[in-house]
Amino acid sequence: MESGLTWRGVEIDGWTALALLEWQREMGADDVMLDSTTDRTALPTAKPAPAQPAPAQPATATRSHDPHPEEDHVGLAESLAAQAATLDDLAEAQQGFDGLELKKGARNFVFSDGNPAARVMIIGEAPGEEEDAQGKPFVGRAGQLLDRMLDAIGMGRALPDATRAVYIANVLKWRPPGNRRPTPHEIALSLPFLRRQVELADPEIVVLMGNTPCAAALNREGITRLRGNWTEAFGRPALPMTHPAYLLRNPIAKREAWADLLSLADRLVL
Ligand code: URA
Repeated sequence: MESGLTWRGVEIDGWTALALLEWQREMGADDVMLDSTTDRTALPTAKPAPAQPAPAQPATATRSHDPHPEEDHVGLAESLAAQAATLDDLAEAQQGFDGLELKKGARNFVFSDGNPAARVMIIGEAPGEEEDAQGKPFVGRAGQLLDRMLDAIGMGRALPDATRAVYIANVLKWRPPGNRRPTPHEIALSLPFLRRQVELADPEIVVLMGNTPCAAALNREGITRLRGNWTEAFGRPALPMTHPAYLLRNPIAKREAWADLLSLADRLVL
């Protein structure tokens, strides 16, 4: 029986279509842009244009063959961040910063959530699909688990009382395609803004959720060894903890995460 489905001109069955769709999702294609696909392999090859002298490039221009086209922008990120006098200024400055290619593929800029006056600032990795859609950090499954974890020690992002509230942000403010891990270069470009965000929010304690914030703030990774050991980041006490997404995949690790939460509550004398 004919399935009526074709891919690149070849008829395929429903299972193959599903497998192709699944593969595209894994590659990070999570949105339908057009009603029909274009088979680019079947398009006629354009005649090569006659050779033209390359236009002169300004020294700071990004070039597509450059493996680090964003390199020149670290200085700009530092100066924009330094000029921000408030968190709103900082959000505006970072949102307008074009040094990260990620910005082009993201739906929303995800700056923060919670109470900026909170004693505790929680720093995660980067927005995922749900966060990208809503423009808020930690609102997907991992975020819901984070809310339950905080609730268990009487804390929460929606609490007006700064003693028990949290302020939440990620190292990266735009979603990496397919939720891949941020590259060291993306972290380097985001760090000046994050550092200033911590300075302006001025929490007593920072919680580093997972490897990426540890890489950014401590220049160290290996969360299973780092977790639970108080250290210092951005000039204040810092507690590395396993990321809630890791806890969803490894429920056995929740016992240690609970011990870390109790350690946080003790430190805050809750
Ligand atoms: N994981 C993160 O690190 N941050 C989010 O905002 C969501 C998932």
